[in-house]
Amino acid sequence: MKKHVIVFEPSGLRISVEEPSTFFDAIRNTGLHVNSECGAKGTCGKCTITLYPVPDPVSQDLEYISSSDLDLKNRLACQHIVTQDTQVVLSDHRRNTKILTEGVSIKEHWKLDPGLDGKIGVAFDLGTTTIVGYLLDLSTGIQLGQSTALNPQIIYGEDVISRITHAVREKNGPEDLSIIITVEMNDLVSQVIERAGVGRNNLSRVSIVGNTAMHHLLLKADVKPLGLSPYEPTIREAINTTGKAIGLTSVPKASVYLPPNVAGFVGGDTVGFILSQRLDLAEKVILGIDVGTNGEIVLSNCGELSCCSAAAGSAFEGATIRNGMRGQSGAIEYISIANPNDPPEITVIGNVAPQGLCGSAIVDVIAEMRKSGLLDSGGRIQSTSNRIFHDDDFGLSYLITSRKESDVQRDIAFSQKDVRQVQLAKGAIHTGATILLNESELDVHDIDIVMLAGAFGNYIRPESALRIGLFPPVNIDKIVQVGNAAGEGAKALLLSSENRRLVEKLVADIHYIELANHEDFQPIFLESLKFPV
Ligand code: FES
Repeated sequence: MKKHVIVFEPSGLRISVEEPSTFFDAIRNTGLHVNSECGAKGTCGKCTITLYPVPDPVSQDLEYISSSDLDLKNRLACQHIVTQDTQVVLSDHRRNTKILTEGVSIKEHWKLDPGLDGKIGVAFDLGTTTIVGYLLDLSTGIQLGQSTALNPQIIYGEDVISRITHAVREKNGPEDLSIIITVEMNDLVSQVIERAGVGRNNLSRVSIVGNTAMHHLLLKADVKPLGLSPYEPTIREAINTTGKAIGLTSVPKASVYLPPNVAGFVGGDTVGFILSQRLDLAEKVILGIDVGTNGEIVLSNCGELSCCSAAAGSAFEGATIRNGMRGQSGAIEYISIANPNDPPEITVIGNVAPQGLCGSAIVDVIAEMRKSGLLDSGGRIQSTSNRIFHDDDFGLSYLITSRKESDVQRDIAFSQKDVRQVQLAKGAIHTGATILLNESELDVHDIDIVMLAGAFGNYIRPESALRIGLFPPVNIDKIVQVGNAAGEGAKALLLSSENRRLVEKLVADIHYIELANHEDFQPIFLESLKFPV
């Protein structure tokens, strides 16, 4: 029987569905919620979902869904059979999504611009998966509010490459991606202003940091070069524009600033990370790592900056993992194995029945399997426990929790294929870090601080990260988690022209290393795939 993969958004949960099954049945069988008043007879019009790719509408779609919603790829879940791999956006897409907003930064060097009494601004951290908008008083630097959303471009693909492909191949691709993101950003501006009770007319500035792909897709810049070696950005320099010019109709007259991009896969979010932590002023050796749908790595050798991008893929976001999902209600976030034959101890976001594993649990399960002898250093699962079973599609698998043991709709397991995906991801990051150190003639003993930024870096357990060899081995005391450092950088850029001039100089001076072309990449990568002994 033919099988197809459905990826649910916003959770990122993926399931395999056998033909014939309707989307309605697939959603319900997974334990997710879809509205219904007619029991899937096609007579209530309540089960609307968004599908990509989208099938042609059937008569019931035309009867119950407005033409504008049909254009937005909405269809009735009960009226369509799953016939191909599909992304499904469930209508309650804002529900329970865990979005990291907090971060730490070094603020003593920030010099606020004068003459901005009564003026406010919004700093955006535009991520591949999430968007955060921070509302700040420009004269005091005080934060007045924040609003968050999932990046709605997810319907065109979870990773940047899928979105680049959509923009390049589809006739209206660039418009699709730009419009959908600006609609969400306008919405976030309205929400945060309303909640703070401040006047829209006083909003005079916007700053936006994001990876190079998000930056280009927002600006409708040509993204084709980002998908082809040598992965050069079309726009490298800083952008000074207006809200109106980029579709921010909620603040048409506001001045908008986007910092320069370093390279095709090192963008303004990394610049924000560097600025917020003032890595240029460091008097120590700091290895900064931000793992999202890519891994950006910055090395500050007492202020001398070098960086690279590691093609980590999206395994740590759960995207290529059999039972992976985002950090959302229902995601297992921590796992601990006391006895390999007993069910592991798990912590689930929202204290509800578990549905899948988010990034921190993916790191944990490997670390714990290594510790308990269920996984060797080469990444082979060992049949030394009654919780190891053979799955025809995924190979040897470790059973985390089952229908017999807990209140879950389906067994949740971690397979040999999943281990391989994590090895590739962590191997890429470890390789990037090693090459940066080598290029600066440093070794692991010279590292004073490993700084983990971003949601993944914030929620992983440092001891588990060390146990899987995510980065070169350091004493655990040297690891610090700085949260949403890119968002902190966006705020710094919003408030201070001096910061803007500073990052433009830093980007001009930073030493960027293209890993794919590096002569040592292959041997170091092969070594980095192993788990520490
Ligand atoms: S469940 Fe009523 S129309 Fe689909």
